Amino acid sequence: MTTRGIILAGGSGSRLYPLTAAFSKQLQPVYDKPMIFYPLSTLMMAGIRDVLIISTPHDTPTFERLLGDGSRYGISLQYVVQDAPRGLADAFRVGRDFVGRDNVSLILGDNIFYGKLDFYRRAIANNTGATVFGYPVTDPERYGVVEMGPGGKVLSIEEKPTAPKSNLAIPGLYVYNNDVVEIAANLQPGKRGELEITDVHRIYLEREQLNVEMIGRGVAWLDTGTPESLIEASTFIHAIEKRQGLKIGCPEEVALQQGFLTPDEYRASVALLPNCSYRTYCESLLRS
Ligand code: DAU
Repeated sequence: MTTRGIILAGGSGSRLYPLTAAFSKQLQPVYDKPMIFYPLSTLMMAGIRDVLIISTPHDTPTFERLLGDGSRYGISLQYVVQDAPRGLADAFRVGRDFVGRDNVSLILGDNIFYGKLDFYRRAIANNTGATVFGYPVTDPERYGVVEMGPGGKVLSIEEKPTAPKSNLAIPGLYVYNNDVVEIAANLQPGKRGELEITDVHRIYLEREQLNVEMIGRGVAWLDTGTPESLIEASTFIHAIEKRQGLKIGCPEEVALQQGFLTPDEYRASVALLPNCSYRTYCESLLRS
């Protein structure tokens, strides 16, 4: 069964104002690339080749200009506008036609992962209902929080609780079977007036179809929610790229690795880049 990908890259971006008065959060630089390169690469690394980008009426044309139809990465990219930030679960209403009868993985356009993504590939291969992930953090009250019992049983799932029942945050990376389309279509807005992703997960939990997988400590899940965390994410990416001479979140490189582009197609795609260190890096991959 095919799993399609959705990147949710809209929202009001108010916490990063005035940066976001110029352009949307998911277009802000994270060291040497626009933020959306990272979640796009994450989906591609899991083998996903059909991706829908959802953003605001104002920013969608910019994403389209930046990434095109995806052919440069050997994938298909489509775009659809969310006319108001109605909540994360709205992605499956706005993206209903795109999902069709397939499975779907949603990633938030501001979530950056670094490290071995086996946990994600496994989830896509084995998912039956919904799979979400647990990641220990020191500030769980800022996130969706899951409480686990013995034997991997999910005891509770709450959105930004004032008194979190565990330190396990749920990152903005989710895997669903096709039922999510119907669940989102029938969802009522929560207390914040938004269609809450946590309510979708609670429905899967009631159906005993919610699976929670832990992300090991070898994986970094970076926060980009505030100006400070944004610069910290940039510093993190910079430190690793400088040390290893390898780029993080380079969709061209992922396309080559995954075989989405043949070496000839890759060469042609890279030839379209302007002369810059990013292009030099992409060219060097053919020699290594
Ligand atoms: O980052 C992980 C967290 O993301 C999860 O732990 C939470 O359970 C989940 O609700 C979400 O929390 P946030 O506070 O980060 O959600 P926020 O409303 O900021 O939206 C996340 C991203 O999605 C943000 O980049 C904007 C975009 N967005 C948001 C809404 C509500 C949209 O594109 N459309 C929307 O309607």
